[in-house]
Amino acid sequence: MDQATKLRDLINKRRATEEKSTAFKKIPAKKARVICVTSGKGGVGKTNFTANLAIALSKQDQQVVIVDADLGLANIDVVLGVMSKYTLLDIVKHRKNILDVMNVGPQGVKIISGGSGIIDLVDMSSEHINTLVSSFDEITDRADILLIDTGAGLSKSVMSFVLAAEEVIIVTTGEPTSITDAYAMIKTIGLQEKNKDIKLIINRIESINEGKAAFEKLENACKKFLNIKIEKLGFIMEDNNVRKAVNAQTPFIIQYPNSSVSRNIELIASKLTNNHQEKKDIIGKSSSFIYRVVNMFK
Ligand SMILES: Nc1ncnc2c1ncn2[C@@H]1O[C@H](COP(=O)(O)OP(=O)(O)OP(=O)(O)O)[C@@H](O)[C@H]1O
Ligand SMILES: [Mg+2]
Repeated sequence: MDQATKLRDLINKRRATEEKSTAFKKIPAKKARVICVTSGKGGVGKTNFTANLAIALSKQDQQVVIVDADLGLANIDVVLGVMSKYTLLDIVKHRKNILDVMNVGPQGVKIISGGSGIIDLVDMSSEHINTLVSSFDEITDRADILLIDTGAGLSKSVMSFVLAAEEVIIVTTGEPTSITDAYAMIKTIGLQEKNKDIKLIINRIESINEGKAAFEKLENACKKFLNIKIEKLGFIMEDNNVRKAVNAQTPFIIQYPNSSVSRNIELIASKLTNNHQEKKDIIGKSSSFIYRVVNMFK
């Protein structure tokens, strides 16, 4: 009886993995765009933005994988209403397959929890790192877009994700403190990499004019003092539906598709895919993203 139960469990587990892998087919020519979402100041709306953007991109037939790289409060699960049982660390420590570690959320968006395990990357043996690197290659070979949701601030772990990604989206609100912290983040990136692709989102604005003013302030300062060009990716309105959707543990783009925030996100998703041209010369496009993260983290 006991053995039969075990066998059934094993078969069910294998079936689940097979189902996931057929839904997430490897297409050899694919190499995902790696986009890191970050901010200078905390609590500006990165996680809500990332989760809803992922769904909007997925609606446009993009295969999207989110990596929750927030070491403090990993809460993309809450916003998307899924429960992650495993993290990246289970791949190396418990030999889990990356398809088992990955969760499937609304609209087929895949989620991988980095969890506090990321901090252990520093102590990993090269064998473990190789395991992780090949797991990540599996993902970037299958997905169109890898979205990394980081914590806020200039910590080493946040900066290693920011610098390893090809594109960075910085989220700020229109508040002066948030803009100053976004500027500090851009300055730090610029010191390491002059030509980083940096895009800006102004969140929680009351009017388009507020968004424009905030963007221009930051754009001018970056041009004048840092000689860095930033791209205006979009504005997101202050909207009470965000809070209501978080409470319902359903992304606002699903719960309130006609709200102002949902329309803002749809527009941003279109801009992100329409404006994208393959940049073949991007450094490291061929080398594994996670490999670069680990190297910078050390
Ligand atoms: N456009 C918006 N309108 C109204 N409320 C918003 C909006 N965007 C985010 N919020 C609210 O701001 C709070 C913080 O959002 P979120 O957790 O996404 O920020 P974060 O930048 O990921 O925070 P952290 O730095 O802690 O990771 C949430 O309570 C959310 O409801
Ligand atoms: Mg967050």
